[in-house]
Amino acid sequence: MTFVSHRHPAGAGATAPVQTFDPQAVRAQFPIFREPRARPLVYLDSAATSQKPDAVLEAMGRYYSTFNANIHRGIYQIAEEATAAYEDSRRRVARFIHAGSPREVIFTRNSTEALNLVAHSWGRSRLEAGDAIVLTVMEHHSNLVPWQLLASERGIELRFIPVTEGGELDLAALPRLLADGRAKLVSVVHISNVLGTVNPIPEIARQAHAAGAVMVVDASQSVPHCPVDVQALGADFVAFTGHKMLGPTGIGALWGRRSLLEEMPPFLGGGEMIREVKLTGSKWNDLPWKFEAGTMPIAEAVGLGAAVDYLESLGMEAIFTHDRELVAYAMERLREVPDLEILGPPADRRGGVVAFTLDDIHPHDVATVLDADGIALRAGHHCAMPLHERFGIPATARASFYCYTLPEEIDALVKGLHRARQVFAR
Ligand SMILES: Cc1ncc(COP(=O)(O)O)c(C=O)c1O
Repeated sequence: MTFVSHRHPAGAGATAPVQTFDPQAVRAQFPIFREPRARPLVYLDSAATSQKPDAVLEAMGRYYSTFNANIHRGIYQIAEEATAAYEDSRRRVARFIHAGSPREVIFTRNSTEALNLVAHSWGRSRLEAGDAIVLTVMEHHSNLVPWQLLASERGIELRFIPVTEGGELDLAALPRLLADGRAKLVSVVHISNVLGTVNPIPEIARQAHAAGAVMVVDASQSVPHCPVDVQALGADFVAFTGHKMLGPTGIGALWGRRSLLEEMPPFLGGGEMIREVKLTGSKWNDLPWKFEAGTMPIAEAVGLGAAVDYLESLGMEAIFTHDRELVAYAMERLREVPDLEILGPPADRRGGVVAFTLDDIHPHDVATVLDADGIALRAGHHCAMPLHERFGIPATARASFYCYTLPEEIDALVKGLHRARQVFAR
């Protein structure tokens, strides 16, 4: 196959031609692909977690071996170096997502914690019985369960934007969900981890704001894969997770609009998040440290900063172009497999994710057959049980791509799926 260059990053119109990169050269910078194995690793599960380049592992190793110390406390040299590296990562992340200020970037453990932070801190201080929260049927459990907990505690109503048969949001329903003025928060995934659908966040945010609601975006699958400008999205809070963007596990971030963050009470209490503590009360630290209690994942933050540098060196538009070319190729080739049904929209309206069913063969069986060929394919509900219920199926198989994915790996997937049909005598 040949790769043609697209010109459309997520949500944007036509722009200048996108630079491209050589995925083979990228791959060579990931130790997991250099590891000698009986069969080469065909890793098609980057939506679950990405692989890590040398640059990230080296940055973390350098922290531990040359300036390991706690941050914001020591006045000796390596403690100052550690603090500088941690805060420098925050600045890089802020620049990467076009935040107005690094103070709007709060490090968390992952997206899940970032969304829980909003639910606990903003939600518990602002919402009361009779209010409503608008979500969608395509949310990951991370963007459902925190709101369910809050809703049952406070007597808040949950409302859902439906998903069409084609796997897109039925936005015609949104005005009705917002009409009575009771919806105080709208929280939507930017790119679905199952359908790959790229949701029109600026339009949803515009309607949410017009109705007096704040807009939360689960950007777990978009910040790693396409250019994201949190200000252009029109959101108030954006959550994302480091391990899906070439960084380590244990680090993620919440971007929040400064005026909202300033007014919010702390999420977790303890060291670091305070300015002054008396026995019976405390004063909180400034942003962003008010939300960073206890010793933070310092090495992981350093690793995330290195991941951002690496992604920027490839170019986010180029990464998204690569994802889209792969998903278009995958959808075309998967059509050759009899009885295979793909969920979600056409390739030009999705990110690098393709979930499918294969006749009535259970996706776990499909994944097991492919595993014998060295292919790592995800099977299950992908933490989106209500979405699967919407389509009347318990599970799907899912292939997902990233900057190191090669078209030959999609060929291997298609071959493996033909084999799975033979094994189950279809
Ligand atoms: C869309 C989406 N939201 C949230 C998450 C949760 O990410 P984490 O487990 O890193 O918090 C994921 C991870 O699979 C995801 O795909």
